[in-house]
This record gives sequence, C-alpha cells and structure tokens, in this order.
Amino acid sequence: MSPNEDHATAPAYERLERATAPLERRLVSVIACERVGPYRLLRVVDPAGPRPAAGQFAMLATAERWGAGEDERPYLPRALSFAGWADGEASFLLEDVGPGTKRLCELRAGEELWMLGPLGTCFTPPAHGRRPLLVGGGIGIAPLIFLQDVLGKPAALLGFRDRAHTLGAGLLHDTRLTTDDGSEGRRGVVSELLSEELDHEENATVYACGPPAMLEAVRALCAARSVPAELALEAGMACGFGACYGCVVPRRDGGYLRVCVDGPVVDARELEQIEAHVGAPA
Ligand SMILES: Cc1cc2nc3c(=O)[nH]c(=O)nc-3n(C[C@H](O)[C@H](O)[C@H](O)COP(=O)(O)OP(=O)(O)OC[C@H]3O[C@@H](n4cnc5c(N)ncnc54)[C@H](O)[C@@H]3O)c2cc1C
Ligand code: FES
Repeated sequence: MSPNEDHATAPAYERLERATAPLERRLVSVIACERVGPYRLLRVVDPAGPRPAAGQFAMLATAERWGAGEDERPYLPRALSFAGWADGEASFLLEDVGPGTKRLCELRAGEELWMLGPLGTCFTPPAHGRRPLLVGGGIGIAPLIFLQDVLGKPAALLGFRDRAHTLGAGLLHDTRLTTDDGSEGRRGVVSELLSEELDHEENATVYACGPPAMLEAVRALCAARSVPAELALEAGMACGFGACYGCVVPRRDGGYLRVCVDGPVVDARELEQIEAHVGAPA
C-alpha cells in the first residue's frame, strides 16, 4: 500500500496523476533559456504533448548539434524533470555537468528540441491530515518547483553547495536553506534541517529529490521515525521507457526496479539503501 493511499481531496491535488507519453518523440520549440545563478531555466512550447504530473520527466535532445562532431556517435537523449507546465508550456531546470546539459544550456529562443515524455511515475498527494514537506538538494529542486505549485506551496528545505547555487531557491516559496560552505543559510546539510523539523512535526509526508547521499539520509531519517516519504531518484538512463534495463536499482525486498518506469518517484519503503549513481551512457 502506498503511504499516501488515503489521498486528500483538495482540487489542486487532482493534477497529481501520471500522464502517458505519446509513442513517438516530438519536436518542440525553445521560448527561452534563462540564467538562474549557475542553472538555466529552459522553457519550451509543447502544444501537442500531454500535461505532465510533478515528478515525471522527459528525454531531451537538441535537433541540431547533438553529438560530438563528425565521425563521432551522437549523444543519447538526456533525462530532465519537468520543473513546471502551464497551457502547453513546459519548463526544465538544468545544470551543466557534461556535454548533453552543456548543449541544452546553450539553447536560444527559436531552436528546436526532440522531446519524449512525460515519462515515469509522479509524486502522489499526502494522506488526509498530513502536511507535505519538500526537501531538495542542488539541481534536485527541479521537480519540487512543479510539486510545490501543485500542493499549494508547502515549505521547502533546500541544500546547496554555496551561495551562488542558492539563487535556484528563488524559484520556490517558503524556503529554509543550508549551504555546504555556510555562505548562505545554515552551514551544513539539508537533512539536519529535516531532522529538526520532524522533531516537532509528527504528521509530515516528505517529498525529496537530490543527490544520492542526501536521499539516503532522508530515507534513513524517515524510516527511523515511520514518516511517509517519496523520493525522486536519478540514474543513468539510455532509453527512458523500460527497454534497456540501464537504470535499475535494487529493491528492498529483492529484485530491481527500473527508475524510468517504476520511478523516478518511489515510495521510500521500497528501498533498502540509496547508492551512488553509475554514470549515464554517452
Ligand atoms: C529522472 C531524471 C531526472 C533528471 N532531472 C534533471 C534535471 O531536472 N536537471 C538536470 O540538470 N539534470 C537532471 N537529471 C540528470 C541528467 O539527466 C544527467 O546528469 C545527464 O546524464 C547529464 O548529461 P551530460 O551529457 O550533461 O553529462 P554526463 O556526461 O552524462 O554526466 C556528467 C557527470 O554527471 C554524472 N551523472 C550522469 N548521470 C547522472 C545522474 N543521473 N545523476 C547524477 N549524476 C549523473 C556522470 O557520472 C558524470 O560525472 C535527471 C536524471 C534523471 C534520471
Ligand atoms: S533507461 Fe532503459 S530501462 Fe530505464
């Protein structure tokens, strides 16, 4: 049973229903790719696509210059969480960590992208009487921007490496921050804020996305206190739709789950321990 099976009935929560992608990738146009500190907010117009739910992702590749050059193989599409959606306009928050995200960060208005999605599972509403609490680390804030809108702007605890990266927090509301170096907010890691919050909030449901070490700390804290939690996982992905088994992570009760179809949003109780990523195939 999902921890959130007894769903609240607030109308906004109805938008948390998993959408299914059309079978083929489609061309979408870039409206803007705006700088948000070290991140980029990519906005695309996608009139033909279904409305995604918070937590779902798309596989993106630029229509032009998506590859390493002549005689070299092109990159696979890259997985990006929906950071928002309204009236056929989708947004994504990007961090340049390698060749794929670098090219995506360079996009200009009018350029085109291949998009496949929405893919994967979404966050589910909190059970009646439980208060949603968002916990994000670094670029893991992307799906929480979307989720916070849908859940009526609950509080968000966010951790970043330094002050420059906290500019991403401006895309959310009611935030409390940590930085690794103490240059903004509390010095430390965001799981410390979560631990304090859970000390005096018995009825929270936690929604988290971030690097594996952060997610593991959140998982362990919530397990120890029997707090329901949903975690948005990341894993290196190739196909994005369940065919290649390139994204599997072990399940607590044995076997594996495919992050692209059984996740990325997973009930924390399904996982024994969250391990470091294996890199995505190029
Ligand atoms: C479901 C899902 C949602 C995601 N949402 C976002 C998002 O909203 N914004 C965003 O910027 N990125 C997101 N990512 C991560 C992004 O897809 C990867 O970082 C991608 O591989 C970057 O491609 P690249 O060519 O730029 O770098 P790569 O050359 O592929 O990787 C660069 C470095 O990042 C490491 N890496 C690769 N894949 C991952 C991963 N999945 N997580 C962490 N480290 C990784 C590699 O080991 C390498 O060190 C998401 C991933 C998944 C699976
Ligand atoms: S990325 Fe291919 S099965 Fe998940």
